[in-house]
Amino acid sequence: MKILVTGGTGYIGSHTVVELQKKGYEVIVIDNLSNSFESVLDNIAKITGIMPGFEKIDLADPAPTAAFFRQHPDIAAVIHFAAFKAVGESTEFPLMYYRNNLVSLINILQGMSDYGIRNLIFSSSCTVYGQPDELPVKESSPIKKAASPYGNTKQISEEIISDFINVTDISSIFLRYFNPIGAHESSLIGELPIGVPSNLVPFITQTGIGKHDYLRIWGNDYNTPDGTAIRDYIHVVDLARAHVVAVERLLMERQKQKLEIFNLGTGKGYSVMEVINSFEKISGLKLNYRIMERRQGDIEKIWADTEHANSELGWKAEKNLDDMTLSSWNWEKRLAGRIE
Ligand code: WQD
Repeated sequence: MKILVTGGTGYIGSHTVVELQKKGYEVIVIDNLSNSFESVLDNIAKITGIMPGFEKIDLADPAPTAAFFRQHPDIAAVIHFAAFKAVGESTEFPLMYYRNNLVSLINILQGMSDYGIRNLIFSSSCTVYGQPDELPVKESSPIKKAASPYGNTKQISEEIISDFINVTDISSIFLRYFNPIGAHESSLIGELPIGVPSNLVPFITQTGIGKHDYLRIWGNDYNTPDGTAIRDYIHVVDLARAHVVAVERLLMERQKQKLEIFNLGTGKGYSVMEVINSFEKISGLKLNYRIMERRQGDIEKIWADTEHANSELGWKAEKNLDDMTLSSWNWEKRLAGRIE
């Protein structure tokens, strides 16, 4: 069975390719390498022994995208990760985000429809919930007005897919990620932020390795036990494994509706301070940090109700916070050449 993974040289995409190959699937990756490196494929091959197929295509360009589907009508399913995903950048360059994220999706859907590909896993985000009124947040929780163009592209993408599959024989599963962190145990693949990371854990590990003098904590005046904001951090390998379970659900035609939605979190929220404490415990380092003002657009607290994914998918996140911070730290040390 051949699976197309768009954005497969990216952080979550590369970990998903590894898990798909371990389950015996043939994987072909499309990526435009705008935010990742082709060398990621070599490291995937080092882990699994199999070099994924690869085509460098800008999915926002309809001609090469259509040509790809013409050349690969035997694709059994598409897992669509490829998108720009920096919240701050999306507020600076909204049109770039709307054009790239939405036109790429539309070209994928057109190709799937033209060549009879019936299974789509879509990479969505808990960002669609905004600040939920009730916690833990369920898939049925209301969608809030997006706080950024990035978040809006996820909401609009969900609507485009929902409208389109109603007029085709495509089935789709939306996977709404909470906060993916961590790296593969081999330290051969992991998060490769380009420039200064805006996300918490890569900034922590870069501070630990000496790239920054201190971590800025964006606010400690939230209505939480220690005043810092709470998120549901999930290990990227747990997340990758959920994609294999989801795509197999469609391949075996076990879906109960043409469109299904699953929250992918651990169901447990951790504060910024708790993540820092975990990092200090696994690394033996004392992390320098300073309390700053709140960051524009941040919500106070969110964690997932995982009941639907646990019972319907039969999937549950297995790794704990220390597993996540330790794997991120080992990855950072390997990037710095500290470990082979
Ligand atoms: C986590 C917490 C920050 C950095 C974003 C996107 C979301 C998804 C995941 C794509 C917050 C605090 C962070 C720092 C800090 N991306 N923080 N100092 O904002 O929850 O989610 O990434 O799908 O769509 O919105 O993740 O890691 O940026 O922040 O104090 O240097 O850490 O304020 O409370 P976030 P994050």
